[in-house]
Amino acid sequence: MSTNNWNNLVTEMPDLLAPSMAKDHPNLPVVKAEGCYYYGLDGKEYLDFTSGIATANTGHRHPKVVQAIKDAADHLMHGPSGVIMYESILQLSKELADVLPGDLDCFFFANSGTEAIEGAIKLAKHVTKRPYVVSFIGCFHGRSHGALSVTTSKSKYRKFLQPNGLAYQVPYADVKSCPSGADPEAYVIEKLEKDFETLFNHQVTPEEVACMIVEPVLGEGGYIIPPSGWLKKIREICDRHGILLIFDEVQTGFGRTGEWFAAQTFGVTPDIMAIAKGIASGLPLSATVASKELMKQWPLGSHGTTFGGNPIACEAALATISVLKEENLVENSKNMGAYAYQKLKMLQDQNPVIGSVRALGLMIGIEIVDPFTGKPDGNALMTILDKCLEKGVLFYLCGNHGEVIRMIPPLTINQEQIDHGLAVLEEALHEHQAELESQMSGNYQNV
Ligand SMILES: Cc1ncc(COP(=O)(O)O)c(C=O)c1O
Repeated sequence: MSTNNWNNLVTEMPDLLAPSMAKDHPNLPVVKAEGCYYYGLDGKEYLDFTSGIATANTGHRHPKVVQAIKDAADHLMHGPSGVIMYESILQLSKELADVLPGDLDCFFFANSGTEAIEGAIKLAKHVTKRPYVVSFIGCFHGRSHGALSVTTSKSKYRKFLQPNGLAYQVPYADVKSCPSGADPEAYVIEKLEKDFETLFNHQVTPEEVACMIVEPVLGEGGYIIPPSGWLKKIREICDRHGILLIFDEVQTGFGRTGEWFAAQTFGVTPDIMAIAKGIASGLPLSATVASKELMKQWPLGSHGTTFGGNPIACEAALATISVLKEENLVENSKNMGAYAYQKLKMLQDQNPVIGSVRALGLMIGIEIVDPFTGKPDGNALMTILDKCLEKGVLFYLCGNHGEVIRMIPPLTINQEQIDHGLAVLEEALHEHQAELESQMSGNYQNV
């Protein structure tokens, strides 16, 4: 495609693509991606700290993944499983079962994260024959109607969602509100128990709840890491009442948190898991996972798909798993995450715009605040991200006020690339700080 045509198309974009997505940040026009880099239409190289939102865990266009896709396309491009059967979908089930925790060994493959969530909730209702779901405030589970009924990261996502009354919410772990001197883990556990007591006494009986669904690390809602005791307590409450526990590992999976899955990081195994994003290095694939015993209770025809478990995507997933293993990328996520965290903590010490740094593996959130009020500052974040982009580093954002910088590079990232990306962030923070100071001195002069 010619650069001219591409440039013209970019100017037409607002009319061609639905603004609900086309106006997201930063919409960088690119011509190519490779490893940890995007190559822009402007001829510049951009270090990618987004991984296409936690998806290109093996780096962009890893040669082994590309080869697997080409080979697959030479043989079989479409299933659907159910009408025909193919080796890759079965082999993938076996290999995923090996890296998943507990007895999560039976799979319903779909295409996207939201579909994996739909499947998880439907399965839980089929198994328990109960109507209600409990989710946690701030979590993001997708945008289709079922997933949206449990998504509360931003109220704008839920606008016009018809009230179905089938989902209740309780607060996510908030260690920040722990009174000083108290133990944060004990505090959030006690709060959780009280919240459930209120829910079960006033809104829904536990016998009517099919499942609880939770992101083990809050993603879109702001990269908040709960103490492991909090997740263990959720497990305990579920067991007490015969409620199934669903982990949404769409974003946390495939090495992102320094283990294959966050369930292993926290030592808590759910009954059902939703996985997607990093599973196939960018090809659309997801899965609802449970034990054989649970899945057996999902009768023929109660769920299905045309495209889910596509043979090319399954081959890409098999190649992704072997790259993650061969190149020790799960371990690299842990090591590089710890390295970046320690550098970011030093940056925080020098820069009052950074409110907090939260990291688990290469799932890193940098909270931007107004240095005078300490309040979340989404506008400042945008200025900082734009400056980073100008200097060739692409970050993404999250948080209820868009106040958290998401740093989620491919798991292939090395120390030099982290050093470079964080040096650019530091420069952008200094420039922003200098602008704030000059605004302040201008304000004083005007008094
Ligand atoms: C935790 C989580 N769950 C579900 C989804 C929805 O996935 P998808 O956009 O593939 O439908 C996302 C997407 O960002 C996510 O981060």
